[in-house]
Amino acid sequence: MSLMTLLSYAIDLVAVLLLALGIKGLSKVRTARSANGLAALAIGLAVLGLLIQTQPSLEAWLWIAIGTAVGGLLGVITAQRVPMTAMPETVALFNGCGGLASLLVAVAVALYGGAQAESGVTSTDLVEQISIVISVFVGAITFSGSIVAMGKLQGWIPTPGWTQSQVRHGVNITLAVAALVGALTLPADTTGSSLWVLVAASSLLGIGVTLPIGGADMPVVISLLNSYSGVAAAAAGFVVGSQLLIVAGAMVGAAGLILTQVMCTAMNRSLVNVLFGGALGGAAPVGGGGSEAGYTRITSCSPEECAMALETAERVVFVPGYGLAVAQAQHALRELSKMLEANGTEVSYAIHPVAGRMPGHMNVLLAEADVPYEQLIEMDAINPEFPRTDVVIVLGANDVVNPDAKRDPSSPLYGMPVLEVDQARQVFVVKRSLGAGYAGISNALFELPQTAMVFGDAKAVLNGLLSELRELGVGKVKAAA
Ligand code: TAP
Repeated sequence: MSLMTLLSYAIDLVAVLLLALGIKGLSKVRTARSANGLAALAIGLAVLGLLIQTQPSLEAWLWIAIGTAVGGLLGVITAQRVPMTAMPETVALFNGCGGLASLLVAVAVALYGGAQAESGVTSTDLVEQISIVISVFVGAITFSGSIVAMGKLQGWIPTPGWTQSQVRHGVNITLAVAALVGALTLPADTTGSSLWVLVAASSLLGIGVTLPIGGADMPVVISLLNSYSGVAAAAAGFVVGSQLLIVAGAMVGAAGLILTQVMCTAMNRSLVNVLFGGALGGAAPVGGGGSEAGYTRITSCSPEECAMALETAERVVFVPGYGLAVAQAQHALRELSKMLEANGTEVSYAIHPVAGRMPGHMNVLLAEADVPYEQLIEMDAINPEFPRTDVVIVLGANDVVNPDAKRDPSSPLYGMPVLEVDQARQVFVVKRSLGAGYAGISNALFELPQTAMVFGDAKAVLNGLLSELRELGVGKVKAAA
């Protein structure tokens, strides 16, 4: 083994360690930013290791440099332009790119031969063949499935009627069998046609499996596809003999699977139900109860009345939801909290695990506005606190505070754990209309006697509350005292 090969292995090892530390650091808001930098450094090192490994091929260096520059540039531009509310679509697109990369690597090795030499990974032809099949199969499903998921979340791709019938199972089984035939005949095939059958059948299977799933379940599917992209990368690692790809792919595969499970539990859905249960909500809303006409006992009030309740409240809980992110009202909310705290009010934020459109959406949103992390209280910890809460302000949240999830077995949300804001003394719901949330159903909370709706854009209402409280002298008095 040459010195250069040894050096490239050492760099790969450091990269793997940094990547593992980076992924670990992402689990805490405080360390997430630096952890992301650490992971990016790991990937940079991996590219350096590859450059050393491929020496002295100038042509290979050029291709690697071009690929790194183009990919890096696209990544930077996307990250800067995409709003937080479109993050699930972005993650779907990136997953798809990961799947495509693994697919291309495996196809290239299948067509032009592998480079297992000096890899350090013990490999036999059988291992390489199996790895190619897994990489192509999972990579193609990940790619096409992720693109469909992105299109559905953006509202570009509707859910065709036939995908909601049993026909889809027949189509998908046929495609899976075709992929299996391609995989089994691949080793003996010298024409290359088995490979293309495998690629085509797997790609169509990715579309066939993702197309029937509704918008509300799409983030779960994206998390699952993220896991698949890890599996495809790990398999590609075996194909080209890269320990880094194997380890990183395995970590992504396992992390994506855990996240999928956490999301399913938080939405009270089983993975089987998500994948084979058909469309629910989102791009294709279910139910019709969410229409404004369905409500009969709605009380609404002005920001002025809400401000008066806040002025005297000793304990206030804010419930952020998707609408807060849409309105970009996190900074106004933070300002309001500071004013109330200066008035001696105890303030906290109730965080539902699937509030918003991606895991940790509300944590990230509120961290942007420098909300102290200790004030963000998870659902299980805050629920027992609601009975002793004077005022709850629900800001652009809907499904995650729907009491029907606890008591109406006919509700599509039945069984989903929710924030029990209906236990508080007074509830103000800030949203623009009586329109439904993501699940497309009505919300019994809106009609409870202790609830008042404050209609308007979350940012406008919060700014209204700020000026009302200023007029009432809130904050100033206690701060000066
Ligand atoms: P939703 O139930 O989607 O409700 C959001 C509400 O925000 C809407 O009712 C909307 O009402 C309001 N809104 C929109 N723009 C607004 C604005 N500018 N100002 C004020 N209000 C505004 O949100 P949620 O309670 O956060 O629940 C999240 C949903 O997404 C759940 O159903 C969950 O299962 C689903 N989901 C989440 C995830 C993750 S991981 N977070 C994954 C999959 C599915 P108006 O139009 O009347 O204003």
